[in-house]
Amino acid sequence: MSDRDQAQQAATAAGDFRTQAVRGGHRRSDEAEHAEAMFMTSSFCFPNAEAAKAAFVDDSGDNVYSRFDNPTVQAFEQRLAMLEGGERCIATASGMAATLALGMALLQAGDKVVCSQAVFGSTLNLWSKYFGKFGVEVVTVDPFDLDAWRAAIDGRTKIAYLETPTNPRCEIVDIRAVADIAHAKGAKLVVDNCFCTPALQRPLELGADIVSHSATKFLDGQGRAVGGALVGSHADLEPVYLFMRSGGPTMSAFNAWVFLKGLETLDIRLRAQSETAMAVATWLTTQPRVKQVYYAGLASHPGYALAKAQQSGFGAVLSFEVEGGQAGAWSVIDATELVSLTGNLGDTRTTITHPSTTTHGRLTEAQRQAAGIESGLIRVSVGLESAADLTADLAKGLAGLAG
Ligand SMILES: Cc1ncc(COP(=O)(O)O)c(C=O)c1O
Repeated sequence: MSDRDQAQQAATAAGDFRTQAVRGGHRRSDEAEHAEAMFMTSSFCFPNAEAAKAAFVDDSGDNVYSRFDNPTVQAFEQRLAMLEGGERCIATASGMAATLALGMALLQAGDKVVCSQAVFGSTLNLWSKYFGKFGVEVVTVDPFDLDAWRAAIDGRTKIAYLETPTNPRCEIVDIRAVADIAHAKGAKLVVDNCFCTPALQRPLELGADIVSHSATKFLDGQGRAVGGALVGSHADLEPVYLFMRSGGPTMSAFNAWVFLKGLETLDIRLRAQSETAMAVATWLTTQPRVKQVYYAGLASHPGYALAKAQQSGFGAVLSFEVEGGQAGAWSVIDATELVSLTGNLGDTRTTITHPSTTTHGRLTEAQRQAAGIESGLIRVSVGLESAADLTADLAKGLAGLAG
């Protein structure tokens, strides 16, 4: 590496969030490329047999095989680790692959996982249905009830798992309080930071041990690729790395390159999208056919004070409940023309979803009631369109509910 490249790396390491988001993790190759190179190769060559042995057996650190390590994937890992303030990151093929790798690496039969009941449905399914099958006990708790965490976490608990803000009601869980409870019993707290990303919330600074991500959401931000990641300490993530080498749910070099580009604009996207979300949420509170608006940026939201304390912005996802139950919600959604009707979120294009018949459609009515997912609830992930165009689009459907 040239002296200039070394100086640039040092300046990046000393830089702030925006600087690290565009330059972090990039180690220029001998070709002197400006943008990150995409290493689309399954394996790497050795100059001689002795070097091959050293790489395979003696951990020389040289690249061997892209299921183990790949320079483009490593660049993404180093950049995200910097942004989350963690020592290390492991990139995975999807957000669910990150949770799978975590469980495979850290759990064994007889261990216990205590999981917030307000997490992504597949997360809960993976813990209870699949890890449960191998003798791991999985207990769910109301994430806002600290006594429930205290009662559930015991000496057998290896992982306490939560997501904040929650989907789709945007409620806020107290990361530091749950971390203290978990640590008192020797458990690790894992926080899914999909909705805020490190641009708005840094769970490791609030006491969490590991951050998990679906990079598919805001980290990419442009709806192009599926991926995931875990960020934490070297010690906590070394077993995960070893599982990844054997188990193989790795991120491809192509997707890592896409996510590197996504991270470059993360902060400005999240801040602009949050500002528009605030404008849309405020407008929704003035609409007569809207029964309730859920957005932690509104002073009326129960999580407002906590969100202000543990986040540096309120995020781009909001939800609202309209009159008329499912029929009302469907008519509002079907009347929109600009926004995309799709299940994903975190995109520069605004997406609209009816949680009770899509993302949460497989829950029982009782489970939906417990999670506060009414049939009239609509979730919006606000993108980069103008607030005026978005409110005009939503107004079409709301007008249809009148009378
Ligand atoms: C909060 C949250 N965590 C994890 C996941 C799983 O991520 P992926 O779809 O990348 O596997 C999702 C996916 O929608 C999610 O919304």
